[in-house]
Amino acid sequence: MSIDPAVELYYDPFDFAIDDDPYPVWRRMRAEAPLYFNEKYNFYALSRYDDVAKALPDWQTYRSGRGTTADILFSGIEVPPGILLFEDPPLHDLHRRLLSRVFTPRRMLAVEDMVRGFCARALDPLLDAGGFDFVTDLGAIMPMRTIGYLLGIPEEGQQQIRDLNDKSITVADGSGDVSPTIFQDAIAVFAEYIEWRATHPSDDLMTDLLNAEVEEPDGTIRPLERTEVLAYTAMIAGAGNETTARLIGFMGQLLAEHADQRRELVADPSLIASAAEETLRFEPPSPVQARYVANDVELYGHTVTEGSYMLLLNGSANRDETRYTDPDRFDIHRAGGHLSFGQGLHFCLGSALARLEARVAFEEVLKRWTDWDVDYDSACRARTSSVRGWAKLPVRTR
Ligand code: HEM
Repeated sequence: MSIDPAVELYYDPFDFAIDDDPYPVWRRMRAEAPLYFNEKYNFYALSRYDDVAKALPDWQTYRSGRGTTADILFSGIEVPPGILLFEDPPLHDLHRRLLSRVFTPRRMLAVEDMVRGFCARALDPLLDAGGFDFVTDLGAIMPMRTIGYLLGIPEEGQQQIRDLNDKSITVADGSGDVSPTIFQDAIAVFAEYIEWRATHPSDDLMTDLLNAEVEEPDGTIRPLERTEVLAYTAMIAGAGNETTARLIGFMGQLLAEHADQRRELVADPSLIASAAEETLRFEPPSPVQARYVANDVELYGHTVTEGSYMLLLNGSANRDETRYTDPDRFDIHRAGGHLSFGQGLHFCLGSALARLEARVAFEEVLKRWTDWDVDYDSACRARTSSVRGWAKLPVRTR
């Protein structure tokens, strides 16, 4: 998509044409309107790296408690307690401390062999098929199985949960409408598993959460309530499945389009982890973080008043030309980080797992196929307000 400079600068998070390729609009925003205002939806947006990196940890000004996706925040729908993505300190920190005790990087890394097994199970039947779909055959399957295993959800139930989650976050073109039962729907599917797990404890996150105790700000200690266990479980499943599926889709696409870099990975698989990192920078699955402005804030000579909505465009920050050389070039040798897992207090709790899953997925893909093309006529995008990427990415293998 090319942008005509004579055309008024317009950014709309619900416009599918912009979502297909938001980078030209974001480039113009960084240059022409680093504090952008959208009259239709009444939101501001920050797009430069330095602004986004500074705003993400600043929870005193930019709050998550009314939702962090544009549709939920703009709708004014009430966000239920216990979902730390949508909480501010002190409650957020309390819940995050508790979750980090059960959701440790060590526990995440212990699943590597299992992740590899899930990849092999997904890919081996496709060896002689002449092609496969990076999202529906791999990205949507392996992370779901991994999270399902970590949480303690039997395989039979995992697909139903993912389908319901997909449905609850899918949006219509040009609309910020959100289902009034979005949270209830997402949470309800876990209720029966949690009840069952309460009487059948095992070595999984759900059992840990059922046994966890939380210290209230006043110092009293109590077990987690069932509703809290439900909210945590739903959030982990939601946050972990969709995003990683999109990362695997984007990486399949980018390696198809950059055959020279793909060949480097075949020759030296130790580069796969940095290729995943560059994919995260180049095509972040979660490129927009919405916030409620809790105090008046001065930005670029303008007062953004308390009660405003602010979109922090980490996807744009990742392409900021003042931070990255030639930012629109995909380069697996690039260093310099990115904001794709957020920054500060809400920094992604699953980043170690997501990185591991992407690395193992491509180690396994590249062992089986070294060359593929995307069948763009049959590919299609996922349309959600939180996650950007492919819903289907079929490729022809060679
Ligand atoms: C490529 C994959 C992933 C991406 C791009 C991603 C991205 C993000 C981002 C941007 C945030 C911060 C949101 C904000 O500031 O409002 C976040 C938070 C979070 N992510 Fe991820 N994520 C990924 C995978 C995962 C996985 C696999 C899990 C769990 C299994 C997970 C669990 C979480 C949780 C629990 C939070 C909330 C942390 C908090 O609020 O303190 N994520 N993620």
